[in-house]
Amino acid sequence: MYPIGKLLNVAGSIALGILSYNTWRFISFHLALYGDRKLDRYKSKNQRSWAIVTGASAGIGLGYAEELIIRGFGVIIFGHKLDELQQAEIHLRTISDDSDIRIVKLDAITASPTEIKDALNEFKQLHITILINNVGGAVSWPFYKPFREHTADEVDNTINLNARFMAQLTRLLLPTLTQHSPSLILNMSSGSHMGIPWLCTYSAVKGFNASFSRAISREMKATGVAIDSIVVYPGDVHSQANTSGLAPFSPSSREYAKMALDRVVTAVRQGRNEMSPFWMHGLSGVLDFVPEFLVQSLTQTSLEGKLEAQAEQMMKVKEL
Ligand SMILES: NC(=O)c1ccc[n+]([C@@H]2O[C@H](COP(=O)([O-])OP(=O)(O)OC[C@H]3O[C@@H](n4cnc5c(N)ncnc54)[C@H](OP(=O)(O)O)[C@@H]3O)[C@@H](O)[C@H]2O)c1
Repeated sequence: MYPIGKLLNVAGSIALGILSYNTWRFISFHLALYGDRKLDRYKSKNQRSWAIVTGASAGIGLGYAEELIIRGFGVIIFGHKLDELQQAEIHLRTISDDSDIRIVKLDAITASPTEIKDALNEFKQLHITILINNVGGAVSWPFYKPFREHTADEVDNTINLNARFMAQLTRLLLPTLTQHSPSLILNMSSGSHMGIPWLCTYSAVKGFNASFSRAISREMKATGVAIDSIVVYPGDVHSQANTSGLAPFSPSSREYAKMALDRVVTAVRQGRNEMSPFWMHGLSGVLDFVPEFLVQSLTQTSLEGKLEAQAEQMMKVKEL
């Protein structure tokens, strides 16, 4: 065989090997084959283990709290409105006779590091092993708009809500999570971390969530600390914030939280520090290998439905 033929043979075999490996990883991840769906890895044998979930009075955060209670964890739910937290608590008590729930009222946009520290002091005696940095969203009206139309407050508040709060909370909880390890930090990013037009600040903070989470993961491994830090990339999920113009087959908040918790230990055992628990969202990873002109065109096309839905919503608000 000519050398060029041999070369092509070798390149083909390598490509096939990589494709097979990635296909196997994708399938085994979504079937949670190496899983521990009950999250026993993060439970103490002698006492109740606890999880903190931020932004847990509604949406995906509430879904996480529901699913953690089913798995036997006590949950500390963070939110900024006492009445909504109390409503969530009443609802969560119906999930199991064994529910153990605490609530923390803190505004993630404005809370100072001292206020966060003081709030955590109350739970010093609890065996906290899970932190879910879930609170987030775009603090702008309307949600999609050109960056030049953002106010100074919208930029600052979006950064504070999504990035500053989770970084400060994680910093304050690392000693506890280290002491109680193995522990887990789940950080909610978004498919938009790739950079979505009309959503510049939000895309950027979701990029922060992703690189922060991966850096923590690598730092824990480098220093021999058994804290698993995983960044989660949701696409469309039905939630309090996301109600119109969603992609077909989008899961509910509860379904999404269940998928994430069912798969997270498999992700850890596969050596991942990021995951997309809903398989359809995972397909967007292909965009990393696609030329920019195609990404530009796909991004614009996929936003058309959302911009239309937003225009309808704005009309309704005007009519009220
Ligand atoms: N849903 C999606 O399609 C989607 C897609 C990609 C990424 N994500 C990410 O997933 C996470 C959850 O999103 P979601 O759609 O479930 O959000 P959501 O439905 O808007 O729920 C957000 C939760 O955070 C609370 N919250 C809002 N502002 C707060 C503040 N200043 N301080 C403290 N708590 C506050 C809300 O409480 P109130 O109800 O009292 O305001 C609510 O409990 C976010 O990080 C988001 O960026 C979601």
